[in-house]
Amino acid sequence: MKLSSALAFVLVLPLTWAQVPHWGPCPEPSVQPAFNLKQFMGRWFEIAKLPAQFEKGRCIETNFTMRTDKSIRVVSSEILKGELRKIEGNGLVEDIKNPAKLGISYSYVLPYSPYWILSTDYTNMALVYSCTDILRLFHVDFAWILSRTRTLPDATVEKAKETFGNNNIDVSRMIASKQQGCDKTL
Ligand SMILES: *[C@@H]1O[C@H](CO)[C@@H](O)[C@H](O)[C@H]1NC(C)=O
Repeated sequence: MKLSSALAFVLVLPLTWAQVPHWGPCPEPSVQPAFNLKQFMGRWFEIAKLPAQFEKGRCIETNFTMRTDKSIRVVSSEILKGELRKIEGNGLVEDIKNPAKLGISYSYVLPYSPYWILSTDYTNMALVYSCTDILRLFHVDFAWILSRTRTLPDATVEKAKETFGNNNIDVSRMIASKQQGCDKTL
């Protein structure tokens, strides 16, 4: 992959953050009890996300693999303008007492961002949340509905949004990710 596209992919993050600051500190959602990292590994497709992005790739998926040192290899990919783009990051459990609270960094020059697994059954769906406080005055957040398959029933997606809402996470601006026409060759 070209370095320029990797950088562009990473540099989009702060821009989208700037779009949706919320007043007040981050919410403190409950996370998946007894989280099993090993079962969470593997391929996840992005079904919906917050916030909406202007430059939209499609067929976004992430493949998590455990390394021997227990860190996590994170490979995210998308199709943008007919081109498959991949970006590799590093994940880790930031606090052993809270194994569902992961951190992910896509570059040595970027700090780890929170990547909290709020809920998952490991085989169908996962709800992920990332929030960063800024001076405790406001916060910027991301949320994702992930699935082991490229589609989820609408009712399941609605239920997932309710779960976010019950944790004081505003997902009214969440948008569906495009997962159509992904398996044909580019
Ligand atoms: C996920 O990563 C593992 C380890 O690199 C690899 O063996 C596997 O084929 C990958 N799966 C997908 C769907 O890319």
